[in-house]
Amino acid sequence: MGDVLYFNGRFTTTAERIVSVEDRGFQFGDGVYEVFKFVGKRPVFLLDHFRRMDRGLREIDIPNPWNEASFSQTMSKLLERTSFADGVVYIQVTRGEGERTHFYPDGMQPTAVAYSRRFVFPDASRKERGIRLITAPDLRWKQCQIKSINLLPNALAKKKAQRAGADEALLVEEGTVREGASASFFVVRAGKIITHPLDEHILPGVVRDRVIGLAISAKIRVDERPLRETELFQLDEAFITSTTMGVMPVTEIDDRVIGNSRRGEVTAELQRLFDDLESQERSA
Ligand code: PDD
Repeated sequence: MGDVLYFNGRFTTTAERIVSVEDRGFQFGDGVYEVFKFVGKRPVFLLDHFRRMDRGLREIDIPNPWNEASFSQTMSKLLERTSFADGVVYIQVTRGEGERTHFYPDGMQPTAVAYSRRFVFPDASRKERGIRLITAPDLRWKQCQIKSINLLPNALAKKKAQRAGADEALLVEEGTVREGASASFFVVRAGKIITHPLDEHILPGVVRDRVIGLAISAKIRVDERPLRETELFQLDEAFITSTTMGVMPVTEIDDRVIGNSRRGEVTAELQRLFDDLESQERSA
């Protein structure tokens, strides 16, 4: 398989069964995770991921086992040991292992895990063709800015999308569009891009942030505001962003065709700008 698993300070492979049945990640979903991309063994936007994880850990009162330097070093070692050049690294930090009780003791030793996985990123034709979405109720908790490992609502929504022949679920709460089950969501209307503002209803996507920066530099107007579900009938283009998908056009939402079912111009421009930025980052 050729993958590498980092576990609490040592390297092994995912073939080793390692986590305790009384790890609080397993029993309580008590932890956070990150996913970063690497290409040619070079990590992409590594520190953005570290900083988001650090904020999440702080918010749920788990000490971060790494600082920026030790994190970068661990991830470099992990990639050095990995036998393939392109993929993703999944990182998870939980509160740790201990007798099952809701009252977690102070001073627990967190469990830190990171492993590399091959991943086939979308090719040019997929990036042009785009994806289809269905809307689904947002059943997540009230702290979606934390990348919690509790992904049951996300997984159920994605399965619903798959069963409907779609690729992703667009989460809607009382008529307000939040984000995808595993991606940020943008629309384009009259040349302007609109996306949900950063608050507790969405994850602060690493790609979302970069795309907004690119749009501003390219003099594309950006409106960060919640979108009403009814506005999905009045848009010119839509796209999602995520670590694994980059900028990905949306051509259908609930069987309604967006922009003649073709990738829109603004989406194509941002896709190009983002792909360029990503390659610069890799060669930096
Ligand atoms: N998902 N919103 C949600 C709910 C997500 O789970 C993700 C990422 C994003 C996009 O964030 P970023 O641009 O930092 O990847 C937005 C990851 C890839 C996953 O769960 O596998």
